[in-house]
Amino acid sequence: MTPAPEIDDLQPAAAEALFTERVRTLVAERCGFAPRPAASPQLAAALGRRRRGRSQEDYWEALRAADAANSELQLLVEDLLNHDTVCGRIPPHFEMLGRQVLPTLAQLDRPLRLASLGCATGEEAITLAITAAETFGLHGAPAVEIVGLDLSSRALGVARVGRYRLSCLRELSPAQRELGFIRQTDGFHVRPEIARRVRFLQHNLMQPLPLVGLDAVFCRNVLIYFNPDSARQVLRHIWDALAPGGWLFLGPSESALHLREWFEPVPFAETMVYRRRQP
Ligand SMILES: C[S@@+](CC[C@H](N)C(=O)[O-])C[C@H]1O[C@@H](n2cnc3c(N)ncnc32)[C@H](O)[C@@H]1O
Repeated sequence: MTPAPEIDDLQPAAAEALFTERVRTLVAERCGFAPRPAASPQLAAALGRRRRGRSQEDYWEALRAADAANSELQLLVEDLLNHDTVCGRIPPHFEMLGRQVLPTLAQLDRPLRLASLGCATGEEAITLAITAAETFGLHGAPAVEIVGLDLSSRALGVARVGRYRLSCLRELSPAQRELGFIRQTDGFHVRPEIARRVRFLQHNLMQPLPLVGLDAVFCRNVLIYFNPDSARQVLRHIWDALAPGGWLFLGPSESALHLREWFEPVPFAETMVYRRRQP
């Protein structure tokens, strides 16, 4: 059998393509999502920008040494992440949360904890806070704490500013828009009473969540970009962080139906949501 070529033995273009592929595999291992082969030119361009004259070996070492936020790997993947989102995306999820889940949880007589995982620029987390305010009032009880987590510090920077264009609010009713935002000349600013319920933290979902006792987790349109093993790992981290009977909302192309020992499926208005099972 012919041995696989060493990178040093290849023509420069082939060596670059092989290096890009090695990096693609490393990104998938460390960050869960696998940039599709079609995104290779984008990955190669990001690599060119970040390497800044460093040799493949030096840059590979810098990437492999990295495992924490703000690492070289994280800086590289910033350009590859997809942050598409709007407020109120998939309205039935928020209807179920507001009509069924939150009123039941309120009987626990303690603060409630919700999370938006892969929160991107914050719209999903803000919609959770608007839904809580619709259900309990802007100043009502119980207290509801919401945490948005994302790998991207750039997206989190936008989330922390809390200013959106009208197009980001198009899925909200006029009443929800009014409850959540104050219109100013430069855009729609998240109302302070809503913003103070929400914290944004940088976190790689491949690591255990820095949260416990969550009553509901929204992790929508994130795992669709992950390979099956990584998606399973994230779902295990979610299971660990959910309170007994806690709720899980996934995107329309994502499923936990294969993990019935961890999550019980609950159909709602043509969507499927999940509840944490006890071991
Ligand atoms: C398409 S957005 C989804 C936004 C929102 N959940 C929604 O459904 O509208 C996917 C988000 O997942 C984030 N993401 C991807 N891989 C991640 C990881 N390993 N850890 C944390 N966030 C990640 C991306 O940065 C991006 O902001």
